[in-house]
Amino acid sequence: MVGKLLYDLPFGTETSTPVSHQELGYVRGVRGNYWPIGWRTAKRIFDSVPATPEDVFLDLGSGKGRAVLLAAGRPYKRVIGVEVSPELHRVAVRNRVRSRRRVRCGAIELVNADALDYAIPDDVTVAFLFNPFRGPIFESVARRLAESAKRAPRTLTIVYANPQEEEALRAVGARLVSRAGPEGEESRSHWVDVYRL
Ligand SMILES: C[S@@+](CC[C@H](N)C(=O)[O-])C[C@H]1O[C@@H](n2cnc3c(N)ncnc32)[C@H](O)[C@@H]1O
Repeated sequence: MVGKLLYDLPFGTETSTPVSHQELGYVRGVRGNYWPIGWRTAKRIFDSVPATPEDVFLDLGSGKGRAVLLAAGRPYKRVIGVEVSPELHRVAVRNRVRSRRRVRCGAIELVNADALDYAIPDDVTVAFLFNPFRGPIFESVARRLAESAKRAPRTLTIVYANPQEEEALRAVGARLVSRAGPEGEESRSHWVDVYRL
């Protein structure tokens, strides 16, 4: 609620209302609900991952754009959000227009596409996934992130919130560098894993 007061209301953005997988027309277990990353969790993430004028941030499953817009408040060279739902993409585009006053990164790309069909740009250095999809979609994305890191050698940081498909990341050679969650919180839905390729 405090986050909404601080970050959504002053700018007239709407990132807070969840949307169920039924409303989005998804098959449960493949794609999940729209649920925005928590404000506090996001701050923890952005305080700990690279954000320099050479870094490029990519949110795969960007929903209404909360993580993209928070990333754009950091000095990234480019910030990209890829969202499969046309409705959520439209809300994200509106939110971007309304956020002009708070962004530092001038290059924000919002793409309405399935992550399965999206070609990972070879300059992405931080890939963010908030448990957007499972199974074969996740495996394909993990494989293509690893291929990109091979094609254009660089350190690629993968931030995986509510991690459910760690095996797919390990299978492509990603190395777990940190796992964090609120103190005393056992549920993995509150974890944030950071991997490196
Ligand atoms: C848990 S929400 C995260 C939203 C946003 N990243 C954030 O942190 O606020 C996951 C999002 O992934 C999207 N999604 C699911 N499958 C997708 C796919 N194959 N390609 C792109 N987006 C997808 C959903 O529509 C939803 O908006």
